[in-house]
Formats: sequence, structure tokens, C-alpha cells
Amino acid sequence: MTYHIAVVAGDGIGPEITQAAQQVLERVGSRYGHTFQFEQVLAGGAALDAFGVPLPEESLRQCQQADSVLLGAVGGPKWDTLPGHLRPERALLAIRKELGLFANLRPAKLYPQLKEASPLRADIADAGFDIVIVRELTGGMYFGPSGRKDSPDGQQAYDTEIYSVKEIERIARVAFELAQGRAKKLCSIDKANVLESSRLWRETVHRVAADYPDVALSDMLVDNAAMQLVGNPAQFDVIVTSNLFGDILSDEASKLTGSIGLLPSASLGEDKRGMYEPIHGSAPDIAGQGLANPIATILSVAMMLRLSFRLADAADAVEGAVQRVLLSGARTADIAHGGPWVNCARMTELILEELA
Ligand code: IPM
Ligand code: MG
Repeated sequence: MTYHIAVVAGDGIGPEITQAAQQVLERVGSRYGHTFQFEQVLAGGAALDAFGVPLPEESLRQCQQADSVLLGAVGGPKWDTLPGHLRPERALLAIRKELGLFANLRPAKLYPQLKEASPLRADIADAGFDIVIVRELTGGMYFGPSGRKDSPDGQQAYDTEIYSVKEIERIARVAFELAQGRAKKLCSIDKANVLESSRLWRETVHRVAADYPDVALSDMLVDNAAMQLVGNPAQFDVIVTSNLFGDILSDEASKLTGSIGLLPSASLGEDKRGMYEPIHGSAPDIAGQGLANPIATILSVAMMLRLSFRLADAADAVEGAVQRVLLSGARTADIAHGGPWVNCARMTELILEELA
């Protein structure tokens, strides 16, 4: 079988880490008899430099026609002063929206071998955790009406949190179904004590819950959730939340695993195609120095294999290889905890060797 993958390497460390992930796919392909064809797509700062827009039409078309998209990261200080509609991040948001990728799955799991790298207190880390954050990805504050206007107090700026029943229902179903295949616990996180949009969120999630009687549903306010994540992460199984809260809580959860350089993500829509990307950004400060951790991107292609291509064996092989390399003691700088570390290329080689 041949799979066509659109690769948006993007900016900063994006090219290094997507390169690593493509090597992993090629290795897995030769082992399991699949062909992965990569098409390089220009988006983000790279596209701004070349064409003056963050997502040229041709780039969007390439993403739409592929079997899935692999994305590194977009953005950097060079483009930070551009107006909102021209920022590199626009490209990412536009791909998510145009491809209808409303469900963002962000697994955060503490590998026992990385406890030392986690900032959690030893007894909390010992309890471990294995969470999937299901983040709504094409609605809410990210896409609501926004703008600026004049006021007697000077300029005013506004962004709007806006959710429809339909949007909440479909993300809730993704989360309930995921929970059914796991520990059957779903925590819906909102700010229903203050926000009307959260009250509709909560009502809707509870209505959908009737279709999933085997899943235990709870609610938590987002401020409390931020606290519970560091105090008792083991209590969570699947979390479902809005675009903005999910953005914030997934960075927090990633740090608990040791490093944001470890967390993959899958963005899915109604069909099987998806976009797969590490949850971290372009890290321009370490770009091109071999300091990047390729693991989040490599685990993202494992998710691609599993969720979009239904190649569970290949996905297991990639995840197993990463685990064994970590177990062997190999560390990139971000998880070395002051000890010896290997660069991005070497970490990739070690994982490839495990896959041989
Ligand atoms: C993420 C990132 C993006 C987001 C940025 C780069 C626009 O932080 O994927 O979490 O906010 O969604
Ligand atoms: Mg983020």
C-alpha cells in the first residue's frame, strides 16, 4: 500500500524533526511492506518569506489531497510583528479549519524511565499517569469574532469564545468513544461558574453522556484542573475541553512527562485523514543546533500509522522502539537532567536501529 503524506516542515526546529520522522516512516515501511510518499509543503514563516502569505493556496491543496499531513512547527521572532492574518500561526489554524480537523488528541503519559526528568514530587511521579487530552480544535476563542475598535479609553481589542451544540456534541463523542477503549473515565473541563459558553458545553456533554452509560463522566473547572494536574494527575483518564483551555492544559501536562519535546498529537475530522504534529512549537532559539528532541514528532507518526492508516503493528513498533531507546538511557538535552545527552540526529539513529 502507498500512502501520500504532505510534510509541512515549517520553521525553527521543524525541518530537523520532520526529517527524523520521515526516516522512521521509511524504515517502518520497508519493514512492513508499505510505501510512504512525501510531498514537501511550504507554510508558515517559510511561505511568508517565499510568497508573502502564510498558507499559499497550493499548499492548502497539497494538504487536502494527501492521505495525512505531518507538521513540524511554524513561527518565529522574525515574523512576530506581522498583523494577525499574516502570522505564520495562521497557516496552522487554516489547515486545521479547512481540513475540518476538529478533534485534537494529545496523549500525556509518564514513562517510568523518565520520572527523573519530571518536575513532579517523587511520590506523585511514582503514582504515574496516562492521560489523553481531547482538545476541540476548530472553534472557540481561536475562531470567534475578534477585532479592535476605538473607545474613550483608547483602543479596545476583543476575542470571542463561541461554541454551538453541534461543535460540542461531536467533540464530546470523540472523547466518550476514546474513554470507552481506555479506563472509561471522562473529565470535561470548563469554566461554567463564569462563562455562558461553558454552561452550554457542560449541558451538552451531559446530554451526550446518556449514549455512553459505561463511561463515568465528571466536570472540573479549568482553574482547579490546572491545580489537580500537578497535584494528582493519576486521577485523570480522558479529558475533553475547549480549544483555548486544551492549548494551555496540554502544555502543562507535557511538562509533567519530563519535556514538551515528548508529546505527540493527532488532529482528526470526520474521515480518517488527519494532521499529526508535536505539541511543541518551532523553538527558534535551538534551531539548527541538533538540540531538538525528535521524539514528539516520531510518536506523532506512530499516531498517524495507528489512527489514519490503521497499521497498528507498525505503530506499536515505533512506540516500542522509542521506549526501548529511553530505557537504554539515551537522552536528548531537554530530558538529560544535567547528564550526558545525544543530538537530534543521533537520537533518531538509535530509534531507527531499534526498528531494524
Ligand atoms: C499548539 C500551538 C498552536 C495553538 C499555536 C502555534 C498557534 O500552541 O498547537 O498547541 O495555539 O494551537
Ligand atoms: Mg499550544
